[in-house]
Amino acid sequence: MDYLWWYVPIATAPMLIAFIATVHVFVSHYAVGGGIFLAAETQWAHKQENQKYLDYLKKHAKFFVLLTVVFGAITGVGIWWTIALASPLATETLIRTFVFGWGTEWVFFVLELAAAFFFYYLWDRLSPRNHTIMGWIYALAAWISLVLITGITAFMLDPGKWPEITQAGTQGTAFWVAFLNPQFLPQTIARTGAALLLASSYVLFHASIFTGEDAELKTLVVRRSVRYVLGGIALAVIGAAWSGAILSDAARMAMLRAAALNIILGAGAGAAGMLVLLLLLLVWKPKWLTPVAGVAVLLASLGVLTAGEFVREALRKPFVVVNCVYGNQIHVSQVAKLRETGLLENGRWTKAYMAEKFPYVVDSATGKLNLDLVKPEDANAVGEVIFMHHCNDCHARTLGYNGLSLLSTSARKGELKELLLNLDSMIYYMPPWCGTEKEADLLAGYLESIAEPHPAAVEKKEGGAQ
Ligand code: HEC
Repeated sequence: MDYLWWYVPIATAPMLIAFIATVHVFVSHYAVGGGIFLAAETQWAHKQENQKYLDYLKKHAKFFVLLTVVFGAITGVGIWWTIALASPLATETLIRTFVFGWGTEWVFFVLELAAAFFFYYLWDRLSPRNHTIMGWIYALAAWISLVLITGITAFMLDPGKWPEITQAGTQGTAFWVAFLNPQFLPQTIARTGAALLLASSYVLFHASIFTGEDAELKTLVVRRSVRYVLGGIALAVIGAAWSGAILSDAARMAMLRAAALNIILGAGAGAAGMLVLLLLLLVWKPKWLTPVAGVAVLLASLGVLTAGEFVREALRKPFVVVNCVYGNQIHVSQVAKLRETGLLENGRWTKAYMAEKFPYVVDSATGKLNLDLVKPEDANAVGEVIFMHHCNDCHARTLGYNGLSLLSTSARKGELKELLLNLDSMIYYMPPWCGTEKEADLLAGYLESIAEPHPAAVEKKEGGAQ
């Protein structure tokens, strides 16, 4: 409750995180898998003294460095911007817990960048042996940064024993407990697999354009790169199955219950099937690697990755950091106090806002907000403030993501307040109610004021008018 709120109409702020993170993952996983591919393949090509393949790999390395360094770095910084604005409390929790891990990650990132530039720009000047070593330094540094980041992102889905330990005050060991969380190993395996899968897809996409009419080269690139896809799929399936098997009951139920997730999972499986089919066709007839086929391969594997990321993100509801921070940036330990003394009263910015906009509700004796004083004409405006801070992270106001004017439609008078007071028991991907009863009253009034009329009621009215 110490941070300002970032209002994003229609999409809601967390959806921006999901969007930028997904785009970033497209490139960051390629940065890892592509590194392994380039290191292993240049090593092989140097050994075979296959100049034609080396020339192709150099072309690919240029594409790789441009895309991963420029786009990867921009979207990576973009994630920091959006999470800090959209999820400040969760970001604070991650920084406090993992500052050492992040520092280490940046060291490897710098190493990665330096190795990538040396690998590409000294291509013809390094001896084959040193060139190969440079490639592997890049690949290893990139993979280690994947491992470090995975520890942190997996923590948000399942922090293991960390919440209990930190409450007990044993902060010293907390980093490793947090980092080596139950989801760390399975997700590292799954992401390594995804990185290999994506690398080959980018290679096939690039080769579909840059190998031109050279059938021999095309065949070589297809045959070499498909081996990485197969390894990648195997790792991704093992990692994802392991990760799914140890999900909490709440997360598993959320996955099975939500219609949107069922559709996304189905679409992801469809994309995976299409990818395998395309690859089989290409292995059979490498000359079919036209730009259209290259784009199709890339889109299919991006589809698989998008589905995976969306499902992983959605499974955390109602939390951002499971068992610690709720989706609406309220810490689990704050809920009791908020219910007793109020959401508006305890938020640093909500309190200041109320005092500025509705100074008459500030009790002059105690300095506290007295919401019983809210004038009827201001009630909905105050309700809207509560909506912004309590609900807007997961619900748009009207049209858009989970828009509340539509979700509140069916409510009869008084029904909404009941729902609010029992938010978490009605639908378990919502946090518990984090305010006083009076605040529930004000929010319910506001929601009723924006609710679309129930279609049945509208029809009846229209029927009656005829
Ligand atoms: C952490 C995310 C999150 C927060 C915060 C949240 N909700 Fe929800 N809410 C959801 C999800 C997810 C659904 C389910 C939507 C669906 O079934 O498609 C939902 C459903 C609803 C529904 C429909 C209930 C039904 O019976 O179908 C209403 C009404 C609602 N929320 C109101 C609120 C209000 C009011 C707040 C703020 C006090 C709030 N929610 C806060 C995630 C959240």
